[in-house]
Amino acid sequence: VASMLRTELCDVLGIDVPIIQAGMSVHTSPELVVAVSEAGGLGSLGAWGRATAALIDGIGQIRAATDAPFAVNYLPPDLDEESFALTLGAAVPVISFATGNPGQLVARAHDAGSLVTVQVTTVEHAEQAAELGVDVIIAQGGEAGGYGGEIATTVLVPQVVRRVRPVPVVAAGGFVDGGGLVAALALGACGISIGTRFLATAESPIHPDHLRRIVTAQARDAVKSPRFNLLSPRPGAVGYGTVVRVLQSPFIERVATVERPEDVTSLVEDLVKAQRDGTAHELVVAAGQSVGRVDQVESAGTVVRQIVAEANDILARLATFVER
Ligand SMILES: Cc1cc2nc3c(=O)[nH]c(=O)nc-3n(C[C@H](O)[C@H](O)[C@H](O)COP(=O)(O)O)c2cc1C
Repeated sequence: VASMLRTELCDVLGIDVPIIQAGMSVHTSPELVVAVSEAGGLGSLGAWGRATAALIDGIGQIRAATDAPFAVNYLPPDLDEESFALTLGAAVPVISFATGNPGQLVARAHDAGSLVTVQVTTVEHAEQAAELGVDVIIAQGGEAGGYGGEIATTVLVPQVVRRVRPVPVVAAGGFVDGGGLVAALALGACGISIGTRFLATAESPIHPDHLRRIVTAQARDAVKSPRFNLLSPRPGAVGYGTVVRVLQSPFIERVATVERPEDVTSLVEDLVKAQRDGTAHELVVAAGQSVGRVDQVESAGTVVRQIVAEANDILARLATFVER
């Protein structure tokens, strides 16, 4: 029997352990979602960049394999209305948003019977999300992979917790293990959302070369690429105003030299071609600083169970520090 660790997040989302596998666009798969949700966490299927038919098919695959809750993830600055409407029609357990104000989308999700989470990178956006009546706010620190802000997780999380109380807050950015989960709880969060760590799992859909880059990269290799927003303004420049964190590469070095919008033409051409050829990971690999702590591939269920077991051990050890 797996060890348990219940928080308010478990009650709100109907899950067993307070761990969310972040929506990571096409770097998530129904298999990954099922593995995480079956282990008691919340798996998330990324809708961004996924064809609508594949998304609906994926939701069906997840439902056929598990009764556990799961999320479908959308980015409001670049939302496909047809895809979103079909996800609403499917009444999925949770819809998660990130990188921009979801506005009316929150009420539409609630009307469809879905719970709503919003990932934010500043206290101001957290307050805005709280006013929309979202069920969970994810405070994403600047060390996170993918699109994000600047403020470190340790600084952002306690501020968000205080400002949006009683809305439950989940911490994201830099978490890979049970120590991280305990740290997040100590900061006032009721759970963690993990991206990069779940890329290196047996159920992850990424290309073997992509996986190799994730398990070999060091923390310092995961850099912010502000000028990437000149190549593709959605979702980074449009919405909350985020900047992507990616692994350093010759392509990303070229992006850093862009000075005027017209300089991006050849970069965009190269990227579009690579996406068509299935080699985009040779140019752009999103990852958090946490990548430096990811060096082996496990099954996603094992990752979830290990984190909970480690957290329980650490909580027991910390309790011995208290003098009575
Ligand atoms: C490869 C990758 C893709 C991501 N894509 C998305 C996305 O489509 N939607 C989203 O809400 N967050 C996305 N994120 C950010 C995650 O939600 C999360 O905040 C981040 O992974 C947490 O930091 P960590 O990578 O250190 O765990 C992505 C992260 C990574 C690493």
